[in-house]
Amino acid sequence: MLNQKLVSAINDQIQYEIYSALTYKAMQAYFEAEDLPGMANWMDVQFQEEMAHAEKMFQFVCETGGRVQLQQIDAPRNEYASPLEAFEVSLEHEQSVTARINNLMDLAQQEKDHAAQIFLQWFITEQIEEEASVNLIIAKLKRVKEDGRGLMMIDQELASRTFTPIAAAE
Ligand code: FEO
Repeated sequence: MLNQKLVSAINDQIQYEIYSALTYKAMQAYFEAEDLPGMANWMDVQFQEEMAHAEKMFQFVCETGGRVQLQQIDAPRNEYASPLEAFEVSLEHEQSVTARINNLMDLAQQEKDHAAQIFLQWFITEQIEEEASVNLIIAKLKRVKEDGRGLMMIDQELASRTFTPIAAAE
């Protein structure tokens, strides 16, 4: 049986993962409107990943005898000044997720909940990859600045990203 403090904290994180998904779906809409289909695709994959994170936490709470309780989710931001700004906001968002996952791990350690610690380890590793991939895109966008051809090349590169379901990836 999952510790009640952890049930409550993971419930909060399920909400935040769904909020993350909405944030990326809104970014996809921004890139669709900007005629940057590759970046829109990248955001759509990100949306699917966030929903998969929420689902993984949802299943863990259910499997460990906890009760998932969903609340209202905040509206995402819809407008961005540039592709670079959207990716910078994305990085800030991922940094906030990392801090939240680290707090969850701290709580699991305080409560001596070993199952939760093993479960959260996957998310700690995932966050390293999440931040690194956004950092790389930001570096490329900064390098091309206002160069339209460079932007199109990055867009083409991001068009190849595909979603890999978590179970198949493990
Ligand atoms: Fe679910 Fe991007 O962290």
